[in-house]
Amino acid sequence: MRRHGVDPDRLAAFLAAEQQAYRQAHPRSADLASRSSEHWHGGVPLHWMSDWGLPFPLFLKEATGSCLTCVDGHQHADFCLGDTGAMFGHAPEPVRRAVAHQIARGATAMLPSALVPEVGRLLAERFGLPVWQATLTASDANRAVIRWARALNGRSDILIFNGAYHGAVDDVHVRLADGVPVQRAGLVGQVYDMRAHTRVVEFNDIAALEAALADRGVALVLAEPVMTNIGMVLPDEGYHAALRRLTRAAGTLLAIDETHTLSAGPGGYARAHALEPDFLVVGKAIGGGVPAAVYGVTAAVSQGMARVRAEAPGYSGIGTTLSANALAMAAMRAMFEEVMTADAYRHMIATASDLAGRLRAIIAERRLPWCVTAAGARVEFMLAPEPPRTGGAAARIGSAEIEGALRLALINRGVVVTPFHNMLLAAPTTGPEEVDRLCAGLEAALDAIVAA
Ligand SMILES: Cc1ncc(COP(=O)(O)O)c(C=O)c1O
Repeated sequence: MRRHGVDPDRLAAFLAAEQQAYRQAHPRSADLASRSSEHWHGGVPLHWMSDWGLPFPLFLKEATGSCLTCVDGHQHADFCLGDTGAMFGHAPEPVRRAVAHQIARGATAMLPSALVPEVGRLLAERFGLPVWQATLTASDANRAVIRWARALNGRSDILIFNGAYHGAVDDVHVRLADGVPVQRAGLVGQVYDMRAHTRVVEFNDIAALEAALADRGVALVLAEPVMTNIGMVLPDEGYHAALRRLTRAAGTLLAIDETHTLSAGPGGYARAHALEPDFLVVGKAIGGGVPAAVYGVTAAVSQGMARVRAEAPGYSGIGTTLSANALAMAAMRAMFEEVMTADAYRHMIATASDLAGRLRAIIAERRLPWCVTAAGARVEFMLAPEPPRTGGAAARIGSAEIEGALRLALINRGVVVTPFHNMLLAAPTTGPEEVDRLCAGLEAALDAIVAA
């Protein structure tokens, strides 16, 4: 029986052949995998690195621009780009220069570096919020925002959208199962009930949001402007206006997490669509590979933060030792001034739009019940005829077997795509040759597995 337009027998035979081809083409990765397993848990320094569904991990030799070279010398067109961490290409020259300069002068000192005023100005100009704090990761930034919001309005609950991911943030690991909040499956060592202070509703469901905010018990709504971590779920027309109106009416603060949707334009999705968040979180790509994240706040929130600190001085529970270090500041300045430029975005978005059109044509030619979604430089193909409107609907589509086989087949054809929901990013360095290679690889793979 065909699933998603794919013949399961052809899929199984194809997968076995591709696994064999991968093993043969990557003897050095195989050797490193075997040696790494001695002293790294699961053979990798972060267990996510073995989640690609490959016979063994692909070991990196080097990556520049949109090209990733593995230790066996194969060059890959990289559309994963570190799952957005390298959204603007690997090793951008201005960042290399800035990092080399700064590292020779000290990377971290628990003191603000001389670049701090300028980086603050660049953040305010780009994203439109006046006041900022820096963290090492977007997870840290989201945790900080949740704490500030609770402290500011004295409420304990937060609200997130079903299927959301905002990093390694405990409060957010809650989902809906048949409309009922449950803790996310697979959490390790979870001992307290995170549902106690986390409410969950479906994205794009205005009535559910209104009902969940009605008792004025929610401190913060934490939202991606386009859901990206369950496959992409775009907001309905008018949804963000309703979200802002309802949060304001309920005295609830609104945080927009732009970590992934920075793909939408130079100031992210929020700037492009004139959203008015109280907090804005941006992480991953803004350091050009150097760990760095930031959160911006309105003037009113900043005043509230000062009041909270004055009322309860002492250890805040917010911040980590290496946050806001001099190296991160140097990298961010180089990124904002020289890499994340309007020209770079024009190229990224035009390339992604071309790619999305070609993917739609490939799907249509094969009459597959699949669709393509996009947010600026980010494109995904989804194994459903229509883009989902909620995280719950998005969670029900897809196929680990089909997507895993395609990912492996693409690597065998010199293309790397993200190991989650077929995400493809166009960098400023992504050219037509890379797009051609991706499309040719996908066509070859699909022609081997689609049902007659
Ligand atoms: C929307 C969003 N926010 C935050 C994070 C956390 O980023 P990090 O893992 O760098 O802390 C992620 C990670 O994928 C994300 O997708």
